[in-house]
Order: sequence, then structure tokens, then C-alpha cells
Amino acid sequence: MRVLITGGAGFIGANFVHHTLEHRPDDEVTVLDALTYAANEASLAPVMDRIRFVRGDIADAAAVDALVKQSDVVVHFAAESHNDNSLRDPSPFVHTNLVGTFTILEAVRRHSVRLHHISTDEVYGDLELDDPAKFTPDSQYNPSSPYSSTKAGSDMLVRAWVRSFGIHATLSNCSNNYGPYQHIEKFIPRQITNVLSGIRPKLYGAGANVRDWIHVDDHNSAVWTIIDRGRSGEIYLIGADGERNNRDVLELILELMGKPADWYDHVTDRAGHDLRYAIDASKLRDDLGWTPAFTDLRAGLAQTISWYTDHREWWTGHKDLVEARYAEVGQ
Ligand code: NAD
Ligand code: DAU
Repeated sequence: MRVLITGGAGFIGANFVHHTLEHRPDDEVTVLDALTYAANEASLAPVMDRIRFVRGDIADAAAVDALVKQSDVVVHFAAESHNDNSLRDPSPFVHTNLVGTFTILEAVRRHSVRLHHISTDEVYGDLELDDPAKFTPDSQYNPSSPYSSTKAGSDMLVRAWVRSFGIHATLSNCSNNYGPYQHIEKFIPRQITNVLSGIRPKLYGAGANVRDWIHVDDHNSAVWTIIDRGRSGEIYLIGADGERNNRDVLELILELMGKPADWYDHVTDRAGHDLRYAIDASKLRDDLGWTPAFTDLRAGLAQTISWYTDHREWWTGHKDLVEARYAEVGQ
């Protein structure tokens, strides 16, 4: 299969490239990535001779058209992905997540190419902390931030292109990923690299907010399961029953890294901070037979801590800038 991966130099996309080369060695991989601040070319350096890498914007219709025409499936990861950045400047989120996705949709429509659209559980808004409910594919869209609202808009575009133009597309909404190659602006790698840099970790507010953590390899195995066995036009939620509040996750990181449980600072909370996400992935498990490989967050975090410890050159050059940007807003 000729696979076009948008956003393949970012966190999940780079892991997806590695996963694909390892598990599907006969597939031909092309990556389209604009190499924004969120990309890291070093993530793909070891496999550059096995893929075609194109630097470009997913909103560039001519570039997208030429690449889509030569593909059997487009796996669309490219996005502006960080909530905190979307609160400072929503503009690139509208460009990439909405105009970029529209551009991809028009190209797959023109060339009748299969699309898998990667999205997030944040499109559903949040759940109460004490609510036993979880998100299902029938949950109502209710996004909170500029990031999640543009992802919600991109999902709506995909759904409309399926219904109105009959494009061959599937869509997945996944919960919070962790693992190697994640940008150090995000919660888990920020705290790990803080500890490795001698900086006290930073917890927003009281740390009671709950996220449903999944290892990035499990997200990516689920995406291939959906591409191989999912039904066109269907929406699949991806999650691995990994609900934890932020304080518990941070205390686990501190314990695994040999620091006292209270060695962190409470900082300014995120505006509009979603309380809780939780995924009911029974459709993916029951209809497609997918199961996660990482079911122990402690073991997954220990592996992730080892990765950041062993790959300091991958992140140290970015650390000062990331922390300076957070310091500007008291985080
Ligand atoms: P990321 O920010 O680490 O990487 C995004 C990649 O997209 C970068 O390589 C960047 O250069 C590229 N990109 C951005 N704008 C582009 C443009 N206009 N044209 C081409 N490339 C562009 O993101 P991530 O965390 O890997 O997330 C990937 C996808 O998964 C996103 O669609 C995100 O919404 C979704 N998602 C993420 C998570 C998570 O926990 N990280 C969970 C669920 C869904
Ligand atoms: O749910 C899926 C989403 O998960 C994806 O769609 C997003 O692309 C991805 O970034 C992630 O969004 P979150 O906003 O949940 O992730 P983040 O890593 O930014 O924050 C996780 C939680 O940790 C959140 O409740 C905010 C909190 N936090 C974050 C940072 C960076 C802190 O307490 N301290 C921090 O320093």
C-alpha cells in the first residue's frame, strides 16, 4: 500500500511512521509535514532512507493534490495540537485544522483515495469528575478551546464529505497519548524533562483534572486496525481505560524518578480547563477485535522516562524556549 502520512514529523505521526515500517515493511511511506515548531526532524532521521519526506503545508492545494494522487490511503495526523497555544493565538489552528483538512478532503474526493482522519476525544467537551459516564461515538460535540473546536470542525467536514460526496473515509477520536517523541510542551514530557533539568514540575490548579492515558503505540495499532477492518463512514473512539488525575500522574513520575511526592509547584490554571475525559472503546474492541498492549501506566511511564533520559539531545535544545513561554503566562 502507498501510505501518505500528514504530520509524520510530529509526536504521534512519527511513532506511526516507525510502527508502519516495523509492522508493514512492504508499504511505501510518504510523509507530508510543514515542520512547524512541533515537529522534530530527528524523530525520523533513523528512517529517512526508507521513506519519502516532503516538506509542505496541508493547506497547499497543489502540493496536496500531487501527493494524494499517488497514494492508496491518507492518514491525516497534521494539526496544531496544543490547547495552551490555541488560547494564546488561535489563528494557525483555524488554518491547519480547518483549511488544511478541507484541502485534504478535496484531494481525496478528486482522486477517490481512502482517508483516515485522526481526531481527539476533546471534541466532546468534558465530563464531571464524579460522573460514571464515558464518551461514546454518540456523545454530543461540545468543544471548549480553540484547539478542540477546530478539531470538531474538521470532524464535521469529514462527516459531510462522506455523506455528500461519498468519499471513503473513517474517523477516530482518541484520548491523551504518551510515549517517545512527544513535544516537551505537553504535560508528561514537560514534567519528566523538568525533573531531568532540575526544575520543579508544574501542576495546573489543584491537579484534579482527569485524563484517559493511552500509550502512543496502542493508538497507532488501533489506527491500523481501523484502516484494515473499519467500515467506511464509521467513527471509532480509541482509549485504553487509563483514567488518572493529573496529580496522581505527576506523583507517579516523581516516584519513578526518585523525587519526593510533593516536589512540584501549583501554577495558574488553564482557562476553560476541561475537567475529565473518558473513552468507551467498546465499538473498537468488540467490532474490530482491537486490544491495547500497554495496560499498566506505571510500566508505560517508566519506559517513557527512560526514553527522555536516554535522548537528551532530542529535547534539551528546546527546553529553555518552552519554559520561557510558560513563564510569560505564570505556568
Ligand atoms: P504534534 O503537534 O506533535 O505534531 C503535529 C505535526 O503536524 C507536526 O509535525 C507539525 O509540523 C505538523 N503540521 C502542523 N501544521 C501543519 C501544516 N499546516 N501542514 C503540514 N504539517 C503540519 O501533534 P500530535 O500530538 O502528534 O497529534 C497528531 C494528531 O493526533 C492531531 O491531529 C491531534 O489532534 C491528534 N490527537 C492527539 C492526541 C495527543 O494526545 N497528542 C490525542 C488524540 C488525538
Ligand atoms: O485528549 C486528547 C488531547 O490530549 C489531544 O487532542 C491534544 O492534542 C493533546 O495535547 C492532549 O490535550 P491536553 O490538553 O489534555 O494535554 P496536555 O498535555 O496539554 O495537558 C494534560 C493535562 O495536564 C491537562 O489537564 C493540563 C495539565 N497540565 C498540562 C501542562 C502542560 C498541567 O497540569 N501542567 C502542565 O505543565
